[in-house]
Amino acid sequence: MSDFDYQKGVLHAEAVPLPAIADAVGTPTYVYSGAALTRRFQQVTEAFAGQPHLVCYSVKANSNVAILRLFSQLGSGFDIVSGGELARVRHAGGDPRKTVFAGVGKTPDEMAQALDAGLLLFNVESAEELEALDAVGRSAGRPAPFALRVNPDVDARTHRYISTGLKTSKFGVPFEEALALYTRAKKMKGVRALGLDCHIGSQLTATAPLRAALSKVAQLYLALQARGHALEYLDVGGGLGITYADETPPSPAEYARTVLDATRATGATLILEPGRSLVGNAGVLLTRVLYRKQTPERTFVVVDAGMNDLLRPALYEAHHALQPLVRRRGKAVEVDVVGPVCESTDVLARARPLLLPRAGELFAFMSAGAYGMSMASNYNSRPRPAEVLVDKAAWRVIRERERVEDLWRGERA
Ligand code: LLP
Repeated sequence: MSDFDYQKGVLHAEAVPLPAIADAVGTPTYVYSGAALTRRFQQVTEAFAGQPHLVCYSVKANSNVAILRLFSQLGSGFDIVSGGELARVRHAGGDPRKTVFAGVGKTPDEMAQALDAGLLLFNVESAEELEALDAVGRSAGRPAPFALRVNPDVDARTHRYISTGLKTSKFGVPFEEALALYTRAKKMKGVRALGLDCHIGSQLTATAPLRAALSKVAQLYLALQARGHALEYLDVGGGLGITYADETPPSPAEYARTVLDATRATGATLILEPGRSLVGNAGVLLTRVLYRKQTPERTFVVVDAGMNDLLRPALYEAHHALQPLVRRRGKAVEVDVVGPVCESTDVLARARPLLLPRAGELFAFMSAGAYGMSMASNYNSRPRPAEVLVDKAAWRVIRERERVEDLWRGERA
């Protein structure tokens, strides 16, 4: 079942016709389905039901506080990468004791705030960061619980911009250095080893790289246990892919089988950090056609959403399906759907077969729930979109459209 479906030719989110939202709130607007968010979360927890585990939703994928609150109420913890994300989690009522903190550049201030909040685990990405965390723990008089994020040197076979587990990547500690670092950490009074962590990349559509990485990491976990490091958590990161066009990612059950087979021997409590797989297909971006423009080479359709609203196509040449909110008949032509931003990369859909859109017609960019709004910017001084959450036949604005006055908030003329 899809939560974005046509009913009598009109695209709905659950029981709400999307044109009604576009007319009431304007465009561009992100719309999320509460049912889709809930179901994806439950599929993941059910897939891991037999195993002690904690789902830590990866806040960066979509950090709206209503979505954080929804996941928190479903029992989720959180994966954060900044003090700002920690503040959001707390504001939304999320539990810092179920929160893990990754990232290669945590500042001592951010570390101190997180430690004070009772964070579950710092995922440490370098020797110098470990020393900094040790200093924070000592001055707080409380050792900081940590896991080393190791880099297993496995090719995740995803886009190179979102691949993180190769030796050339800035992420994680080289696999071979991990044992020595845990040994060094034992002498530090400000840190306490509690787990081991890895994350090889995002939008994974094959299980083999995951299996290869986690098998290596599970062996390291056992070697650490054997050397007297009393670890409890094995954090396997996020990365499960979704279908944007014709990708066939593993189902949550297949994903769980891969993870469990590779890690069972450790007896560890698993930490999962899914982002995209929970929210990606639970959201769309509504946009309205402004103009059409025919050149000798191309047919352009100019819409009111741009790369500042949905960056993925410009940054990763990502594909987002485009569906009309009201279906009609006719012959498809090949069009380039572009935004208003003054950049040649502001192409949201290239060479797409569409019935030649008309000015004023409404469309939805599909699969836009992950890394959509969270990567939106004010480039070209464009106020960022509104966000709406649907619950069956009801909907509410969970983020107001930015106003132009917001654009210069904090500036001094
Ligand atoms: N854990 C860590 C340590 C991560 O770095 C990430 C994503 C996740 C979990 C969540 O991964 P997910 O389950 O969402 O794949 N902006 C890019 C994706 C960047 C992913 C960054 N790290 C995109 O739009 O495709």
